Amino acid sequence: MKRFDGLTVLVTGACGGFGSRAAARFAAEGARLVLSDISPEPLETLAASLEAETATLAGDIARESLSENLVKLALEKFGRLDIAVNNAGIAQNFVKLPLIPSEEARRILEVDLLGVFYAMKHQLPVMERQHREGSRGGAIVNIASVAGIAGAPRLAAYAAAKHGVVGLTRSAAAEYATKGIRVNAVCPSFARTAMVTGTLKLAPDNAAAEADLTRGVPMKRLAEVEEIVEVILFAADPKNSFMTGQTLAADGGITAI
Ligand SMILES: NC(=O)c1ccc[n+]([C@@H]2O[C@H](COP(=O)([O-])OP(=O)(O)OC[C@H]3O[C@@H](n4cnc5c(N)ncnc54)[C@H](O)[C@@H]3O)[C@@H](O)[C@H]2O)c1
Repeated sequence: MKRFDGLTVLVTGACGGFGSRAAARFAAEGARLVLSDISPEPLETLAASLEAETATLAGDIARESLSENLVKLALEKFGRLDIAVNNAGIAQNFVKLPLIPSEEARRILEVDLLGVFYAMKHQLPVMERQHREGSRGGAIVNIASVAGIAGAPRLAAYAAAKHGVVGLTRSAAAEYATKGIRVNAVCPSFARTAMVTGTLKLAPDNAAAEADLTRGVPMKRLAEVEEIVEVILFAADPKNSFMTGQTLAADGGITAI
């Protein structure tokens, strides 16, 4: 019996670094997948690459209707929703707070914070109903950041959004603790995905820029995608049944000091 056999797993931001690897790992461990990202073509390519039953729906996570329709799709196609990985997100340009264009701050809050709020707003009632009707409730894994636990100089809007995700996670965990639903946040530090490598490529000296990003990390390196995905799967695992409302820092030791 595989770890996620027969479970329906929803992954947003499914085409990105963490999302695509998490989707592949859930598929390999027996899950049925509902996959979403902002544009349809890479989503179809990802779905076709997985040896699992899949359903896809592209759209902007900053629009509430996408989250509503994703939950409907999970129910129509697979009859239930067991695990949701709310992972879609965007980064912020590295500048001090007064230099963040207000439009950029608004968009970051809409995608990174409200996107998770809309997702949970539609996922929780379905999972609660499953629990009420006598089967398993569910697990929600929100992808926050170490910038959701402590301040992040030159990333203030992003840090505000990710602190918000931690607030949503803890609050919903307490609200649904007796309803068979666990809600946890995974909080990575800088990891080797397009979100970070894209920024590094823009720097005149790539190695110096990477050293700059990892200076405050006790392990002195970026996280590899697989290292973060391992924590996502741990948070989602039904056997991990007493852990809720937690912020799981996968950060090379940053929050230890
Ligand atoms: N990479 C890191 O260092 C790091 C660190 C901490 C937290 N995170 C968080 O991890 C999550 C995944 O990031 P990643 O590193 O895999 O980045 P990524 O850029 O590789 O993936 C993000 C995915 O989200 C999708 N997306 C972006 N905006 C969207 C929108 N409005 N609607 C729907 N989909 C949208 C993108 O198309 C992309 O596929 C994000 O929430 C990010 O903030 C990343």
